[in-house]
Amino acid sequence: MRISNKNLLSTAKGPSPKCNIVTMKCSLRVFILFLVLLVAFLTSLFFTYTLTGVTNMAYLETQGVEDAHRVKLVPSYLGMQKLSKDLVGQKTCACDRCVGDPGVSQWFDEHFDQDILPLWTKANMKLDPDVYNWWVMLQPQFKPHNLKDVLSKLFLIVPGENPYSSWNRSRCRRCAVVGNSGNLHQSHYGADINSHDFIMRMNQAPTIGFETDVGSRTTHHFMYPESAKNLPANISFVLVPFKTLDLLWITSALSMGEIRFTYAPVKQFLRVDKDKVQIYNPAFFKYIHDNWTEHHGRYPSTGMLVLFFALHICDEVNVYGFGADSRGNWHHYWENNRYAGEFRKTGVHDADFEAKLINSLAEAGKIRVFRGN
Ligand code: C5P
Repeated sequence: MRISNKNLLSTAKGPSPKCNIVTMKCSLRVFILFLVLLVAFLTSLFFTYTLTGVTNMAYLETQGVEDAHRVKLVPSYLGMQKLSKDLVGQKTCACDRCVGDPGVSQWFDEHFDQDILPLWTKANMKLDPDVYNWWVMLQPQFKPHNLKDVLSKLFLIVPGENPYSSWNRSRCRRCAVVGNSGNLHQSHYGADINSHDFIMRMNQAPTIGFETDVGSRTTHHFMYPESAKNLPANISFVLVPFKTLDLLWITSALSMGEIRFTYAPVKQFLRVDKDKVQIYNPAFFKYIHDNWTEHHGRYPSTGMLVLFFALHICDEVNVYGFGADSRGNWHHYWENNRYAGEFRKTGVHDADFEAKLINSLAEAGKIRVFRGN
């Protein structure tokens, strides 16, 4: 039976035998449409699942995940968490100005992510795929090893815990971040630097013979294998790893001493306080590159890594020893640095952008910068 448009229209007006047939036909069409949509949805879900699974598979295997067939649809890193707006106007520490106080600088609050731990610990060994892929490309000439195995062995030797608690209104933790700039020479900042709770230095940074300008106390010393030196007891050695070999190296240098060379000679044995060794988190490294240095340079300088570490664990941050010489090179306070301009030639760090970032942090009231000579 042919059903005219007229009949179709009449179905809207009221029931009749003809209309019932039309209604059935309409329902059938709606049902078919629903079925087609359901099939399309299930197909797209299936492909999303399969593709995510394939790209995650290689990554999971390098992470040492036993069940590499389990697929992670939602990454555990949920993106930026802003400083809470509900806390605006409230103090997060007992210092005069507190890094954590929200509402002081909108720019800072929008870039600051409280949820990424500066340290790599037993609790956050697994890296998200985007972090892992970025991190292994920092020194791509080195073959990655199984991270879970390597870190598990390392955390039998060093604590692998996070010793830093979050902000506390009754605490005023004052930190000095001391870069290696030649502007510290004749600065007479020594006593001022020594007055801080945490004093963070990096790479070669000597103090003996330079106490008047740079102070004598150190609580944290940040180094990578190729810049590492022995440290007196009670100083936290914070290893900045650029590759899995660096994790193997620290394990070796604190035990059997099998590793003597990476891309340069490294210390076979390292004399540092094992209980105070900490490992810099690659996720935090990438967070600085993404949120703060905004991909200027291939990756942030050691100075930036230390500065943001301090901004995440301290209540007040004072910055010393940052700033290039008149030719824009990174000179040192203890030597005539032959390689002061090397980073510019290679484009590995963007000194101008980093200097601007330091100025912005100072303008935002989050750090105080002591510019020396
Ligand atoms: O030279 P080195 O890398 O050991 O210096 C440590 C950090 O101090 C650098 O990564 C850089 O951030 C900072 N620095 C600086 N100006 C200099 C020398 C070093 O800002 N003249």
